[in-house]
Amino acid sequence: MNSTPKQMANTNLNSKGHGKNFYNDIGLRLAHKLLGLEYLHYGYFENLPTALSNLPQAQEKYMEVVLGHIPEGVTTILDIGCGAGGMAKNMVLRGYDLTICEPDPYLLNKTQEMTNHMVKGVIGFYQNTNDLPENYFDLILMSESCQYVPFQMGFAQHRRFGKIGGYVLISDFFITKNLDSPFLSKSGHPLDLFLKQAQESGFELIKNIDITPQTAPTMDIYQSLIINKAFPIFEALFEYTQKKYPTLYKLLSYFLSKKINFVRQKYLTQSAEVFSKYKSYRILLFKINPLT
Ligand SMILES: C[S@@+](CC[C@H](N)C(=O)[O-])C[C@H]1O[C@@H](n2cnc3c(N)ncnc32)[C@H](O)[C@@H]1O
Repeated sequence: MNSTPKQMANTNLNSKGHGKNFYNDIGLRLAHKLLGLEYLHYGYFENLPTALSNLPQAQEKYMEVVLGHIPEGVTTILDIGCGAGGMAKNMVLRGYDLTICEPDPYLLNKTQEMTNHMVKGVIGFYQNTNDLPENYFDLILMSESCQYVPFQMGFAQHRRFGKIGGYVLISDFFITKNLDSPFLSKSGHPLDLFLKQAQESGFELIKNIDITPQTAPTMDIYQSLIINKAFPIFEALFEYTQKKYPTLYKLLSYFLSKKINFVRQKYLTQSAEVFSKYKSYRILLFKINPLT
């Protein structure tokens, strides 16, 4: 396809492969609605104590740090997985000509609102989308959305929609150590494979910055929220069900207790320390070179 952004379809809802992303969408929506967060990415904690009350400020700092890596001369940007629109709003304020690609209609609408409808939008999973102009974007941004897109397909799409000589800016965490326990989160691409694939696909790595120490504290906040807030609410509901509806309680316990224990174990391993052991949060800037 070779259209201008104005010709883009706005309703290309592609539900293919929705399974894993569906649960993720719910989590992200809840984070947005319950915590009122403008950004759905990690915080960047620099000279800032690890506390939920500091998360919005740390997320603002993350935005500043990531957008600070957009090279001079860039005007057209494609924001993949725009979340609740915080990054998009700031890019529009900085004068960039922005297009968003987002599978969740709720988040796409939020971003349109946040930017006063100043952005062009495509609904769908990036790896499946055809409704974007080809060889058009000066820069493609993946702020914590890279992990959701199969990376070979991602590179093929970047080559299709990005300009030769343009850039891909990624800020996300990657797996750097073998996940040797079933309770560890499997999120993230393996960093070595990802960088190898980038090189083989003609993407030249020009920046590779490790921001794990600054972002990992987010995991302690996340863990504390789940263990100290979400679980007690869940347990209270369970207790209430046990008293009021004993048969339903027995049924729920029978079917859910294994799962609940697994989830509890999983969240007990979601600390900053464990994150830093197995994952590395990187800002990666690639240049799109011609294929030789
Ligand atoms: C952790 S949030 C990050 C949001 C935003 N970029 C930010 O920095 O605040 C991940 C985003 O990626 C989106 N996403 C998930 N799978 C995707 C896919 N296959 N293609 C494009 N976006 C995807 C989610 O709906 C969500 O908006």
